[in-house]
Amino acid sequence: MDPNEAAQRSARVAAVFDRVADTYDAVGVPWFTPIAERLVTELSPAPGERALDIGTGRGAALWALADAVGATGHVTGLDLAPAMVAATRREAAERGLATVTLLVADAADPALPAASFDVAVASLVLFFLPDPPAALRGWHGLLVPGGRLGVSTFGSRDAAWEQLDDVFTPFLPPQLLDARTSGTRGPFASDAGVEELVAAAGFAEVRTASFEQTVTFVDAEQWRLWSWSHGQRTHWEAVPGERRDEVLAAAAERLEAARDRTGTFTLTQQVRLTVGVRPVVSPRGT
Ligand SMILES: C[S@@+](CC[C@H](N)C(=O)[O-])C[C@H]1O[C@@H](n2cnc3c(N)ncnc32)[C@H](O)[C@@H]1O
Repeated sequence: MDPNEAAQRSARVAAVFDRVADTYDAVGVPWFTPIAERLVTELSPAPGERALDIGTGRGAALWALADAVGATGHVTGLDLAPAMVAATRREAAERGLATVTLLVADAADPALPAASFDVAVASLVLFFLPDPPAALRGWHGLLVPGGRLGVSTFGSRDAAWEQLDDVFTPFLPPQLLDARTSGTRGPFASDAGVEELVAAAGFAEVRTASFEQTVTFVDAEQWRLWSWSHGQRTHWEAVPGERRDEVLAAAAERLEAARDRTGTFTLTQQVRLTVGVRPVVSPRGT
């Protein structure tokens, strides 16, 4: 991808996250936080360590990292969306966290000192980047030898969720069709594909932990509010205003397939946690 196109793509992604900054992960539907917390747990951050949260958003991984590294450690969170950073910075102040720094920066080239972090995470970020292999090589250089990286990405969704998301398909321009997971092709389509990406950036001991994350809605209106509150907002924005009621009605009908005995709707998504270590003696000699 040429640099202009890459910059435009990243700016478009950041603009969407700016628009959702006030509601992201805050509409009473646990989703991003449980995923990020499992990713952090997978890396076992220790008191006193220096952690980096790449694409921090509203801090789903940042708070867990801050808890783990404690008062003697430090966490840097970066994100390209200024409104996300501003909101998360306010929350860090409200939480009284003196050990957290928040930066507006591009994950592709964050301009941070080399070998300055013990642990780095990027939860649900890598697939948004124009050049994931290059970004991973950069993150490798930010870690000390022996430092750990963890990235979370999406695997498959259950059939009910796929059918639900399909209500948007007729409205989506081709470049948006793949926005959520980079699709069923390419490196994000399998555990092995993401592991290869991470290993190719120089990481060793690369492994995957996968789990099912469920999300539960009390009704279609709650799903509507939630889907406007994160990256799927772009899908709603692609639907002309006068047709959104029609899309919601179709979604409500499809949600019925996921109704459980308690009357709520539960959908399931496979989440992949891929972790690796910067070797103490790098095979590249760096
Ligand atoms: C799905 S959200 C995940 C946020 C957070 N990690 C979480 O788990 O809730 C993706 C985040 O990545 C950020 N992002 C996307 N492209 C980025 C880039 N090139 N540089 C830095 N942040 C980026 C977005 O602004 C957004 O906050």
